[in-house]
Amino acid sequence: MLKGLNLTVVVTGGIAAYKVPDFVRTLIKAGANVRVAMTEAALQFVTPFTFEVLTKYAVLVEGQDYPDPVAHIALADWTDYAIVVPTTANTLGKYVHGIADNEALSMLLALNSPILFVPAMNEKMWANQATQRNVAQLRLDGHIVLEPDTGFLAEGYEGKGRMPAPDVIFQAVQAFVTLKRLPQPLSLSGDRILVSAGGTTEKLDPVRFLTNRSSGKMGVAIANVAALAGGDVTLVRTNHAIGLPVLPGIHIITVESAQELHDQMHAQVSDKDIVIMSAAVSDYRAANQADQKMKKNQFSSDGGGLTLALVKNPDILASLPKEGHYTVGFAAETQDVIHYAQQKLVKKGVNMIVANDVSDQTIGFNSDDNQVTLVTADDTVTLERQSKIGVAANILAAVQTDKK
Ligand code: CTP
Repeated sequence: MLKGLNLTVVVTGGIAAYKVPDFVRTLIKAGANVRVAMTEAALQFVTPFTFEVLTKYAVLVEGQDYPDPVAHIALADWTDYAIVVPTTANTLGKYVHGIADNEALSMLLALNSPILFVPAMNEKMWANQATQRNVAQLRLDGHIVLEPDTGFLAEGYEGKGRMPAPDVIFQAVQAFVTLKRLPQPLSLSGDRILVSAGGTTEKLDPVRFLTNRSSGKMGVAIANVAALAGGDVTLVRTNHAIGLPVLPGIHIITVESAQELHDQMHAQVSDKDIVIMSAAVSDYRAANQADQKMKKNQFSSDGGGLTLALVKNPDILASLPKEGHYTVGFAAETQDVIHYAQQKLVKKGVNMIVANDVSDQTIGFNSDDNQVTLVTADDTVTLERQSKIGVAANILAAVQTDKK
């Protein structure tokens, strides 16, 4: 989805700058054209030459030669989207106040394209009211600001201020570009969103289990896009989804079985505004879970088969309370997709069903793309085939419109 886009990465002078070349590589691998601008302070942490080798373009930096005489304007005109990473408290404050005392800030001021800010700094500097005021102003001005991560800081202690890992920033960039391309702006500021993601696992014994092929990519994409759009997000993910990058600020709960998912969804639902059940729940679990590994001769001594006794799991979506929030369910089908989705809308008592055809192996489970139809009581809208992040943004936009 980033293929062919002109992305400008602005690097400012924080210790996290040493991770930016790795992030730039992920953008290039995704097919984007990347150019870099740096503040003088950033030169203390990483060299322009590193970026020039990676991007094959000259780097815009104070006092150094650049192919174009009016360098900051030329770069601003070329840029489709800009990412300021890491954003120091200093650059953040200067940009908010329209100060352009270096080439990178002059370029940002001349920019007519959306900007994603990725602040990284000491936790006390992040918590300072001047910084928080500046972040609030950036958001009011329509920019997107990624929350810093909480973890081990360069100062040698834990705190909120870390730059997220390059793969997390990469997810944020995709969500940012997707949000900026929506026909209507999506703002979930003030909304509390509960999302489930991934396939559940039902243990048979300590080493075997029943499960399904859901990766959790769709649900995690919804959580990430909702968080970047300003939502207060709780993600209940299954262990299938543990490896997927999740944006900072999202409250994560990890579960395995349908029963655990059921208990967590019920525990979390009460104060939410939007509930999205994208997890693929095993409909059945073993009637008896063995404490020790089951032996094959335990079942048959004559080489015959094994019959497993299964009992039904609760229908989590149907059992959730529906008052006070907008509820979305999913329907994975291999035939009569819309017909079954309409039935599920009524049976589960939800406001919207996101229906997809899982018989097509190139979309749905585990793939990065998806094609879905949004079914509500009054409408059936089929979205074009696109990335799961794109689908996530369109689902949330449809919820925002339908909720009004
Ligand atoms: N769901 C749930 N609890 C279950 C089964 C499904 O909460 N025990 C939710 C899913 O998360 C999804 C929706 O219900 O949002 C529809 O799931 P799906 O598997 O398509 O439908 P089922 O209700 O299981 O019906 P069937 O398998 O007969 O199609």
